[in-house]
Amino acid sequence: MHVRWKHLAVGLAILPIVVLFATWIGFFNVGASSGHWRITEWFLHFAMRSAVRTYALAVDAPERLPDNGIPPAAGHFARGCATCHGAPGEPRSPAALAMLPRPPDLSAVVEQWEDAELFRIVKHGVRFTGMPAWPTQARDDEIWSMVAFLRKLPAMDAATYRLLAYRERPQPPMHAFRFEDALAECTRCHGTGGMGFSPLTPVLAGQKEAYLLESLNAYLEGRRPSGMMQLPVQSVDPGHLSALASHFAALKRNAVVQPLKDDRVGQGEQIAQHGRPAQKVPACLGCHQNSQRNPSYPRLDGQPEAFLAAQLKLFREGSRSGTPFSHLMEKAAEYLSDADIENVSAYFSSLPPED
Ligand code: HEC
Ligand code: HEC
Ligand code: HEC
Repeated sequence: MHVRWKHLAVGLAILPIVVLFATWIGFFNVGASSGHWRITEWFLHFAMRSAVRTYALAVDAPERLPDNGIPPAAGHFARGCATCHGAPGEPRSPAALAMLPRPPDLSAVVEQWEDAELFRIVKHGVRFTGMPAWPTQARDDEIWSMVAFLRKLPAMDAATYRLLAYRERPQPPMHAFRFEDALAECTRCHGTGGMGFSPLTPVLAGQKEAYLLESLNAYLEGRRPSGMMQLPVQSVDPGHLSALASHFAALKRNAVVQPLKDDRVGQGEQIAQHGRPAQKVPACLGCHQNSQRNPSYPRLDGQPEAFLAAQLKLFREGSRSGTPFSHLMEKAAEYLSDADIENVSAYFSSLPPED
């Protein structure tokens, strides 16, 4: 008996050396073409499902998914996800079908996951599978918009998807060398008139040119975190960014929303004009009146309310950067309450465009 234990111990001690040797001579086939062994496949799936389930327990899911973010999420899906997963009316590419594991057709599988689990997968990706993490880890709001989009996917037909993802134009190429292609990439989310297709997509029409260009460079260099904007700016030739900024700056800003006249607008106006010095909230109009005081201070009139509120929350939590002056805005938002954010957003969004 004593000798057997000894043999076992020696066997265990040399096992890693045998495995290392087998690896060195190339015993394990890493080719994707032959698939996994059944047991490996079962184990990987089991590990993935268990890890997602456990880590999702720490995710704080919102009560209602942000359906107003579905249009930009669809636009992002077309560039960042459909290449692997396919989309309604767009089958998976042969390259995706040859991956191991194969990226699933999401309309067939999303119903197996809870919202928090989908959030976890989309934010962090899945190791050893090719499923990438979201392009930025600095903010969660865009990922919830994507989860809202994924929820609609099983019932979505090809025409609805095409309209959401590409709007009135054909699918732009993966890399835009020509100016017209670069513009087509932007207008599928921002519209040919620059007015945007959702309450979470900013109006670009008539925005100050310097602000637009500085923002584009900030996205490109990763200083202003946004997964949804990072992909489009990286897909166009950098030489076109300044022409894109001047193109959108020259468009006319229309009134999109009926000016509201509720209490929030009045209270928002109060803060915009006077701030609340006791609580270190500055008067917004000091910087945001439509003068040319500083070309990097953006116009806010007529921006959608939900977009303004989302940006203010990002400034307040310290995850919104941009132009060289963004620290001023971070300071201005630091002491805003949730109610203040609602009120000032309602106020600026109700202002009729000035030109
Ligand atoms: C480079 C290819 C690739 C891209 C791009 C990609 N995925 Fe995936 N994705 C995968 C693969 C492969 C899996 C399978 C992982 C597994 O089986 O463990 C996967 C799994 C998933 C799952 C879990 C589905 C399931 O039941 O296994 C979701 C949800 C998902 N991806 C969403 C997305 C979204 C949303 C995007 C875009 C933001 C995206 N993926 C981009 C390759 C990709
Ligand atoms: C997938 C949809 C989508 C595409 C494509 C897209 N955008 Fe955007 N864009 C957005 C969203 C969503 C935001 C808000 C991002 C944030 O929170 O920072 C945004 C923000 C911006 C901003 C900042 C505006 C502001 O007021 O702060 C600029 C400038 C901009 N986009 C220009 C462009 C240009 C130019 C292109 C084409 C190269 C483009 N976008 C392509 C969705 C898109
Ligand atoms: C000291 C000047 C200053 C004051 C005061 C100020 N802002 Fe700003 N604000 C800026 C600058 C600069 C930016 C551009 C930040 C960037 O992208 O770098 C900005 C950006 C914003 C944005 C984002 C707009 C967009 O298109 O992305 C919102 C919303 C905003 N401000 C609202 C407010 C509100 C509400 C107040 C009052 C509570 C306020 N600001 C006070 C300077 C200021």
